[in-house]
Amino acid sequence: MAILEVNAIKKSFGNAHILKGIDFELEKGEVLSIIGSSGSGKTTLLRCLNFLETADSGRITVNGEVIFDDSTHTLKDSEIRDRRLHFGLVFQSFNLFPQYTALKNVTLALELELPRKMPKAEKKEELLKIEERCKALLDTVGLSDKYDYYPCQLSGGQCQRVAIARALALSPDILCFDEPTSALDPELTGEVLRVIKELKNSDRTMVIVTHEMEFAKNVSDKVMFMSDGVIEEIGTPDEIFNNPKSHRLQEFLKKPTF
Ligand SMILES: Nc1ncnc2c1ncn2[C@@H]1O[C@H](COP(=O)(O)OP(=O)(O)OP(=O)(O)O)[C@@H](O)[C@H]1O
Ligand SMILES: [Mg+2]
Repeated sequence: MAILEVNAIKKSFGNAHILKGIDFELEKGEVLSIIGSSGSGKTTLLRCLNFLETADSGRITVNGEVIFDDSTHTLKDSEIRDRRLHFGLVFQSFNLFPQYTALKNVTLALELELPRKMPKAEKKEELLKIEERCKALLDTVGLSDKYDYYPCQLSGGQCQRVAIARALALSPDILCFDEPTSALDPELTGEVLRVIKELKNSDRTMVIVTHEMEFAKNVSDKVMFMSDGVIEEIGTPDEIFNNPKSHRLQEFLKKPTF
């Protein structure tokens, strides 16, 4: 069974039809890269998956559970929050809290999940567990010596790795990245891409919007080329990069920069 099924997702802003019917499936452990020129709707699609935008119509199913369809429009905030937890999202601009340390940035969401009323000793124990878990996640992204650093004391690549650890803390079924390296210079890009590759090796299901074509080629099971709000072509990296069928994709791949 597919871990993610997206059917006929449409989204308009005013009269502008941005997503015109998006359909795809992802199996557990698969990595999907989304490529396409600026304005083609890549970020809007990720935002619809993560409930940061509400699609106008269509259906999103995770692990067999319909988390969005036409009846979802009346959901309460708490229900939306629960459904959003299926996805972790890493943004281009990190979005870390500047006033908190790396560790606190990762633990915060889990701490907020704890019930308000809890015996003190029990709470202390839970907080310690959260701290241990989040330290281990920071270790995974290569930041074992930076727990107590503030974002302003970290490089862009390190900030982005904190953001990845933070997204992992909530144990999402699917981890989404929106151009995770486009704010970084090439050296720092490499360290973030390495972390994403390692996540693939540990069987993480991921959707990655990227302009890094070499990376998409190497890390993806599937590559989706979006153009003007539709999936112009979807296939294996070999099909998309070595044997593109649509004229638009052929033209897109000729461009030296995206
Ligand atoms: N909240 C919004 N209100 C109005 N228009 C929007 C909104 N969000 C996105 N759009 C429009 O939707 C279109 C697609 O935007 P989107 O950010 O999804 O593109 P993208 O493929 O991610 O581009 P890029 O590669 O530059 O990040 C753009 O024309 C944009 O102006
Ligand atoms: Mg975008």
